Amino acid sequence: MTTIGFIGVGELALYTIKGLRRGGYSGAVLLSPRNREKADYLQQQFGCSVQANNQAVVDNSDFVFIATRPESCLDALAELEFKPGQVLISVVAGIEIEQLRTVLPAELEIVRAMPVSSAEAGSSPTLIYPEHDFVRQLFDYCGNAIIVDDEACFSQGSILACVYCWYFSLFQALIDATGGVKLPTGLSAELVMGMARGAAELALASKDVPPGDIAEAIATDGTFSKLGLDLLKNESAFEPWREACRLLQERLAESG
Ligand SMILES: NC(=O)c1ccc[n+]([C@@H]2O[C@H](COP(=O)([O-])OP(=O)(O)OC[C@H]3O[C@@H](n4cnc5c(N)ncnc54)[C@H](OP(=O)(O)O)[C@@H]3O)[C@@H](O)[C@H]2O)c1
Repeated sequence: MTTIGFIGVGELALYTIKGLRRGGYSGAVLLSPRNREKADYLQQQFGCSVQANNQAVVDNSDFVFIATRPESCLDALAELEFKPGQVLISVVAGIEIEQLRTVLPAELEIVRAMPVSSAEAGSSPTLIYPEHDFVRQLFDYCGNAIIVDDEACFSQGSILACVYCWYFSLFQALIDATGGVKLPTGLSAELVMGMARGAAELALASKDVPPGDIAEAIATDGTFSKLGLDLLKNESAFEPWREACRLLQERLAESG
């Protein structure tokens, strides 16, 4: 049976492992010991095994996740010795394969992946580069793997792992704007998230129709939807979202 290991047991390791287990993944999962509280919790609740040190994780794993913050990643990897046939899965944002290679053996297979925290709810759309059968299967346990065959495409796509976070703030703003005395906050929240899921599901099911066209088809003359959409457009409400994406694109280009 294949063994996977994590170097770096923080938020990403936590939600990814929860997602894997809840999705039915039963293989061995080894953990680095730093951040002992989280590692112990995962060992007790999610059938993982905390190792004595990072090298022990590598020695006993077939697939090794590097899941430290970007600034610690190269130093952590430089201290490790890999065996032939192992695969490194890097979930580190903004560090390209060429940079990882500077501290790793030339023959080590490297796959990048970008799971988000909805993995723990079984619904992370996880970008993967390049294609790797086992890595794809792994991320299908906690959502759906999306394979790309170009690293520039992976980097551009990983901006959306941050947009994912911004959605929560948008949800909160909409809950605050609509919830209150007449509509209890709990119901408002259920509707805000339910409408977002409904819109996403319709857009995903209508692959040939751009989402902008779906909006225009709903917001016809005289509708309340058009009243609000026109105000958002007049206020250039979507422009800061584009700017935020451009900012991330610039930062990723600088770090890559
Ligand atoms: N969180 C997300 O939503 C998300 C989404 C996509 C991608 N990512 C990527 O995932 C990576 C991890 O993010 P995170 O949110 O999980 O960060 P985090 O919560 O800060 O976890 C990183 C963990 O790595 C540990 N660490 C640092 N150096 C280490 C070393 N040499 N050996 C073993 N462990 C070490 C840290 O310990 P200390 O706290 O003691 O330093 C910390 O427990 C980042 O590179 C990020 O770009 C995160």
